[in-house]
Amino acid sequence: MTKFKDEFVWGTAASSYQMEGGAMDQGRGDSVWDMFCRQPGLVRDGSSGMVACDHLNRYQDDVKMMADLGIQAYRLSVAWPRIFPHGTGTVNQQGLDFYDRLIDSLLAANIDPWITLFHWDFPTALYDQGGWRNRDSADWFADYAQLITEKFSDRVKNWFTLNEPQCFLGLGHQTADHAPGLKMTFEKVLQASHHSLLAHGKAVQAMRASAKGTINIGAAPVGLVTYPVNDDPRLVEAARAATFDIKNLDCFSNTWYADPMLKGGYPEDGLKLFEQFLPDIRTGDMEIIHQPLDMYGVNIYSGTPLQLNDAGEPEVVNLVGCGRTTMDWNVTPECLLWGPKFFYERYGLPVVVTENGLASCDWVHADGEVADPGRIDYVRHHLQNLRQAANNGVDVAGYFYWSIMDNFEWAHGYQQRFGLVHVDFDTQKRTPKQSAYWYRDVINSSGDIL
Ligand code: GCO
Repeated sequence: MTKFKDEFVWGTAASSYQMEGGAMDQGRGDSVWDMFCRQPGLVRDGSSGMVACDHLNRYQDDVKMMADLGIQAYRLSVAWPRIFPHGTGTVNQQGLDFYDRLIDSLLAANIDPWITLFHWDFPTALYDQGGWRNRDSADWFADYAQLITEKFSDRVKNWFTLNEPQCFLGLGHQTADHAPGLKMTFEKVLQASHHSLLAHGKAVQAMRASAKGTINIGAAPVGLVTYPVNDDPRLVEAARAATFDIKNLDCFSNTWYADPMLKGGYPEDGLKLFEQFLPDIRTGDMEIIHQPLDMYGVNIYSGTPLQLNDAGEPEVVNLVGCGRTTMDWNVTPECLLWGPKFFYERYGLPVVVTENGLASCDWVHADGEVADPGRIDYVRHHLQNLRQAANNGVDVAGYFYWSIMDNFEWAHGYQQRFGLVHVDFDTQKRTPKQSAYWYRDVINSSGDIL
């Protein structure tokens, strides 16, 4: 088939802290990212999400632009401290009103809103009480999840709990590259990780209990994909094993998060490797974490190719001269063929690519156009691979390009441009890149023109 199935969801993604701005406006409380950005030297260009894309004020125009670009679904995140300025307790009505208006505008424009509950802007007030290090964080998060579900599940059907736990734990709590900027012992990192998994489980319970109608719930972890360079069955099994094994004393694996969520237990190899650092896992915890989910959301940008050497042993291919994005990530489109296949086969859920995309060197040219042929080529090849996965029998439910527009790229500030739409951060002028018009044509043809 050259087309994706009719129900396939064509979307773009973004997140609250990276887009909204208005960090001190309309009653929003402080988040750990505000706190992180205030410390000199932590964000490369010295910037912050204080203004970002000013989406808080410009959302109506942004929604109109998305509609003009043929976008069918928009994955946004809710800023927890915009709803609960202190993380728990008093609700900020203005925050709820903002998302209410945003959701209604999207629906009026025929764009389906998909909500991520936590995309890293953790309330500072709760960080001061230990943040994810405190076991109570699971209940704090579940209460927040419950309120948001009560308010919006009449209109929003697709939900994600945590975005990329690997990053907010690993980069945020182990290496200090991201907020809250901690370098904790691995034992403490695993404890925080366990709490965030409990938070996921309790949130799913609360969401199911408070949803108005049927909703679909998943998480959106990083997908770390090792893929085989050919179909040799030994190589395929080696790549699968490498995709799902736990190699290092860090947070970057698939199974440390997805196995508890979907299989009810931490993976054996991780339990062994992490033996001296294991968290306090109490009776009943794994049952809480193990809630039925409806989809496997996954963020995949790149993968690691594997080959068999002359001795027939699997080895990672040394990618000399491989295409690279301005983030310095290898361009390896096969990650969207093998990643969804491996995740589908292991977890048995429809796969939604909740993020895929690239940062490149984009600016508005003299003719007013933003020519970004590299982005078009990247997305084309990744979608061709995803389509191949679907044709091979993988249940692929949707694709969300990261991101709708250039925005605050965490510790890189505004230097990395992932958008389909260029943003001039001095004037806030939006200019759709050539890739945005091309993506519209892809959507209109259900992928036929790829
Ligand atoms: C993620 C990050 C996004 C990044 C994107 C590009 O979910 O990966 O949360 O916010 O901006 O991945 O690095």
